[in-house]
Amino acid sequence: MRRLAASDRHRIGFTLNSRPVEIEAEPRLLATDALRHGLGATGTHVGCEHGVCGACTILIDGAPARACLTLAVQLEGRDVSTVEGLAPASDRLSILQAAFRRHHALQCGFCTAGILMSLDAYLRERPDPSESEVREVVGGHLCRCTGYAPIIAAALDAADQLRATPRADGKNAHV
Ligand code: FES
Ligand code: FES
Repeated sequence: MRRLAASDRHRIGFTLNSRPVEIEAEPRLLATDALRHGLGATGTHVGCEHGVCGACTILIDGAPARACLTLAVQLEGRDVSTVEGLAPASDRLSILQAAFRRHHALQCGFCTAGILMSLDAYLRERPDPSESEVREVVGGHLCRCTGYAPIIAAALDAADQLRATPRADGKNAHV
């Protein structure tokens, strides 16, 4: 097998959870591996590795993306968010995370980071979702434990709270 030369690696820089980061990446390196092994963002889970389960969902420029289908080099210059960046402070959960805790919306937690990322992005755009819309979002994720009902309840509860917590600029509170 041909060994990679130094020139086969690319130095890439992007923003991870509001902090600038730089890594060296071979062209074939997946974003999941770059985040988990290169940058220690192990909250991004790896399940199916082919875009089905949703466990690896991150936000790229605010939009949900499957990190297992994304190459690390594609993160160059982008704004990347993982579950580690959801909480507004180290001692405070986001409104969505707190709702998950209240509703016991996780058991083993393997799927949870990906679901939180998808719902975080969705609720920023749609703070008044119907139950069927939330089901549609969560339907992009496989959860083997919860039966989904508490996840739906948590998302709707979080949406209620977001609408009741307007920011000074009139936009939604931190999800
Ligand atoms: S690990 Fe990426 S979708 Fe399953
Ligand atoms: S909480 Fe276990 S897979 Fe969803």
